[in-house]
Amino acid sequence: MTIEELLNKAFEAMDNAYAPYSNYHVGACVLCKDGRTFLGANIENASFGATNCAERTAIFATYANGYRKDDIEALAIVSDGKRVAAPCGICRQVLSELLNQDTPIILSNGKDRVDTNIKELLPMQFNGDDLD
Ligand code: THU
Repeated sequence: MTIEELLNKAFEAMDNAYAPYSNYHVGACVLCKDGRTFLGANIENASFGATNCAERTAIFATYANGYRKDDIEALAIVSDGKRVAAPCGICRQVLSELLNQDTPIILSNGKDRVDTNIKELLPMQFNGDDLD
């Protein structure tokens, strides 16, 4: 699958966003090395803190289907904002544990594209090595 196809899948997922409060729509797609894909969209809640971001929805679906970080080829995250949305702090923490450090993360708003990875997005990570 090309990066363009992966981004298109993330845009399809964005159509399923449930965002009645922010009206800001985000989609995500995890591409696994065997070709399977897992979609995610942001799902909001009237208790705002209960909202789940698109990339967490997608990565949790990936893990819930038995896939792990070494099985993942790339993650695309797209939004309908006027500038490219970078993952929020909570998502960066989650992705730092559930993705390999250099797995490509591709961000787009349909106009501009940024290619990055979690090592770049979240330096000085707190992780399981810090816990006894
Ligand atoms: N949101 C995401 O889904 N991913 C991000 O990386 C940034 C923010 C969602 C959460 C909320 O539903 C809306 O965007 C506005 O914050």
